[in-house]
Amino acid sequence: MNLIQKPIPKIKKLNASVFLENINMTFKQELQQGIPSELPTIKPYDPSINHAPKRKSILSSEEKKLALQNALRYFKAKHHKTLLPEFKEELELYGRIYMYRFRPVYKIYARPISEYPGNCEQAKAIMLMIQNNLDYAVAQHPHELITYGGNGAVFQNWAQYLLVMKYLSQMTNEQTLIINSGHPQGLFPSHKNAPRVVVTNGMMIPNYSKQDDWEKFNALGVTQYGQMTAGSYMYIGPQGIVHGTTITVLNGFRKIKKSPEGGLFVTSGLGGMSGAQPKAGNIAGCITVCAEVNSKVIHTRHSQGWVDEVFSDLNELATRVREAKDKKETVSIAYDGNIVEVWESFDKENIHIDLGSDQTSLHNPWAGGYYPVGISYEDANEMMANNPKRFKDEVQKSLRRHVETINKHTAKGTYFFDYGNAFLLEASRAGADIFAENGIDFRYPSYVQDIMGPMCFDYGFGPFRWVCASGKQEDLAITDQIASEVLEEMMKTSPSEIKQQMSDNIKWIKGAQENKLVVGSQARILYADAEGRIAIASAFNKAISDGKISTVILGRDHHDVSGTDSPYRETSNIYDGSRFTADMAIQNVIGDSFRGATWVSIHNGGGVGWGEVINGGFGMVLDGSNEAELRLQSMLYWDVNNGIARRSWARNEEAIFAIKRAMKKNPLLEVTLPNFVENDLLNKM
Ligand SMILES: NC(=O)c1ccc[n+]([C@@H]2O[C@H](COP(=O)([O-])OP(=O)(O)OC[C@H]3O[C@@H](n4cnc5c(N)ncnc54)[C@H](O)[C@@H]3O)[C@@H](O)[C@H]2O)c1
Repeated sequence: MNLIQKPIPKIKKLNASVFLENINMTFKQELQQGIPSELPTIKPYDPSINHAPKRKSILSSEEKKLALQNALRYFKAKHHKTLLPEFKEELELYGRIYMYRFRPVYKIYARPISEYPGNCEQAKAIMLMIQNNLDYAVAQHPHELITYGGNGAVFQNWAQYLLVMKYLSQMTNEQTLIINSGHPQGLFPSHKNAPRVVVTNGMMIPNYSKQDDWEKFNALGVTQYGQMTAGSYMYIGPQGIVHGTTITVLNGFRKIKKSPEGGLFVTSGLGGMSGAQPKAGNIAGCITVCAEVNSKVIHTRHSQGWVDEVFSDLNELATRVREAKDKKETVSIAYDGNIVEVWESFDKENIHIDLGSDQTSLHNPWAGGYYPVGISYEDANEMMANNPKRFKDEVQKSLRRHVETINKHTAKGTYFFDYGNAFLLEASRAGADIFAENGIDFRYPSYVQDIMGPMCFDYGFGPFRWVCASGKQEDLAITDQIASEVLEEMMKTSPSEIKQQMSDNIKWIKGAQENKLVVGSQARILYADAEGRIAIASAFNKAISDGKISTVILGRDHHDVSGTDSPYRETSNIYDGSRFTADMAIQNVIGDSFRGATWVSIHNGGGVGWGEVINGGFGMVLDGSNEAELRLQSMLYWDVNNGIARRSWARNEEAIFAIKRAMKKNPLLEVTLPNFVENDLLNKM
């Protein structure tokens, strides 16, 4: 039996009556009380919930004492005797102290904003967004406060959650809450136009930013991996990634100049984000084959209707794919097994793959992100916990085999791209045959180098999103209508360079209601440039002031034009050598904070892994006021144009086009432009 499924023995004996605690408290009172002064009853470990894998045991016995001391400082001394053995047991069993006992019994989800207690609408909106990230329907490992990506944490433990809710429910418009890697440092006096919350996640002294540093300092309880929208309270369920993946698949087929109809897309992972791939494939109109080693996850995606069919026999899979190709079907198929087996089988069967990618969690390769071929899922979990060195060897061996089979397909014409999961990076570290002839670059591009960068980010198109705080579907429908009208109007005068993006997004927003993409909060995403984002936000603010809709919360994925410096992903199409710098992301979050964001966040890690990326984001509450209008105009403009300016300085032609266009429209914008050196001159050197 896998360790992580072992219930804590003494907890097993408890009966359901323990859930009757706090029965006399309203939801608002529970939020306001923070950490209860008397201990709540222990919560049984629920094996039906998807739990985080046991983290590797990395602390020395002295460090374990420090971790326990750190955890206990949230509680009064009189409780330490009771809590110490319990927390010690959690640390031994799970590698972390989650403080399961303090998990609230009320249902956590994005309630209508009016249901939250407090003195300020902005703080209530943030509570709504935090609860959405922890909703069981949304979060990957809700009891461990992980939203997605295996380790994308909202908080490190339940005490932090309880304290943050308390602070938010008491704060005023003259205070700012400081949150360091989930830990609320406290409320500090500020002013009405300051962000209400400033979040940092996993910011480390650079030399302490390796994978094992995360394991150690997270186990000590002093840092966390906030991923992108997990630790910044901006996750909107799978919809965000469905949209991004649809755009990527559509543009991928455009890149190879082939219609998606009858085309085959092969990839892996049906987890938090990767689960969007089959659905996106269906929206784009191709055949998708997606391998997944965890049968539980396959079952979830299949029952949700996110993947149409499931196969566990490779021969049957090959027959079904041939049939789908012949009939030019749009269909998504899950393979219950390892992705390497699919690539190898399709090579043997001579099945042509048009687009190929991978979305296993290689940002987290040694702790459950990538399962090696030839070892059962259960055995791999056992090995990961009990023999991490052997597990690492097996992962690297599998990656070499994985690349070898991909190389055979690309030699036959498959277009393979890295989909932002550090596949190329980890494969190269594993010694796979992944380098181009020059021995420096990878053989394959990242999807940002070939697709997302030049077609979207350089023009300022990125994942703008909003949440209707009333929780009403009708509000979302009105905002969809408004966004679509705004974009259609803009399209009339758009330059040809951005017409394709405009039309893809108009099509998306028109089909959004029908595609039933909402999971959790009433949220929507689309890709828009600076002008589009501002025009849509401004139209929402007007609709709020006209009483047509209630409060709207704006935000975006960190995976965007300006928010993220990530040399193998968001900034992988920066070729002036600056892709290993992180000035843009830091400038962005500072700039957002004084231009009107309601909350800002900056993270180490996210997407491709701890130490590999710096990414940031914001949230902004629109309440229909003139102040909100000023804030959105100022902040959204900066939030996009900062990145375009950097991309244009890197000599990206699409970005030079976009920033010149922006300067023409706004005389207050004056950006330093690059001069180009003649190749002949350089070559004569
Ligand atoms: N390109 C993007 O826009 C983008 C967006 C989000 C996430 N990502 C990255 O994609 C990766 C996946 O994210 P996620 O949230 O889905 O993570 P996840 O951990 O929830 O899902 C990954 C899935 O891959 C499965 N898996 C692992 N090894 C496998 C193998 N060899 N064969 C078949 N299945 C295997 C796991 O069982 C898991 O269910 C992460 O690295 C993440 O950072 C990229």
